[in-house]
Amino acid sequence: MRDIITILEDKSKPGDIEPVKLGYGESSLSPVLGGASIKQHQKLWQGYCDRFNRKEGDNQFNYAGYLLHNLYFTQFRSPRTTNAPNGPIGNLINSKFKSWDNFQDKFQEEALKFQGSGWIYLARDGSIKTIVNHSVRQDILILVDWWEHAYLPDYGSDKKRYLKSLWRIMDWNAINSRWAVPYRK
Ligand SMILES: [Fe+2]
Repeated sequence: MRDIITILEDKSKPGDIEPVKLGYGESSLSPVLGGASIKQHQKLWQGYCDRFNRKEGDNQFNYAGYLLHNLYFTQFRSPRTTNAPNGPIGNLINSKFKSWDNFQDKFQEEALKFQGSGWIYLARDGSIKTIVNHSVRQDILILVDWWEHAYLPDYGSDKKRYLKSLWRIMDWNAINSRWAVPYRK
């Protein structure tokens, strides 16, 4: 499995990108994200790679789609009942949002304001940012896929429940390792 530094500094030439290998199985995130929806989502992820490799469509869009899904899927582990953040990410959240609960409220508020397809993320400076469709960013810590395909199979149109459930599978060790990636504006 490639580490996150390699992923963010990917120097792949067209023809050789593929989804990062995950350290968990298709059903490991159930019931937060079910096996069937993971399988379907991974096909889309593979699709970005295939189109990039074949130089079909918008190469930047496909490359960003590939990279964002790498970050999305490598931040998960099996569900926990309570899953408060720890380490540097826990410190950032507590210093910027006062508490884990406040952070979740604020993140939800920003996410629900966002319309259309895209991503919501916690950036290194502690702000909550959005991405329309796909775009490469260097400052992502926690990343939430806000495209319909991410929540529809397991949650229908209940995006609030999708987001609330997602906090249960965040792998804080994986997220904390993102601090080691050099940040370039
Ligand atoms: Fe997605």
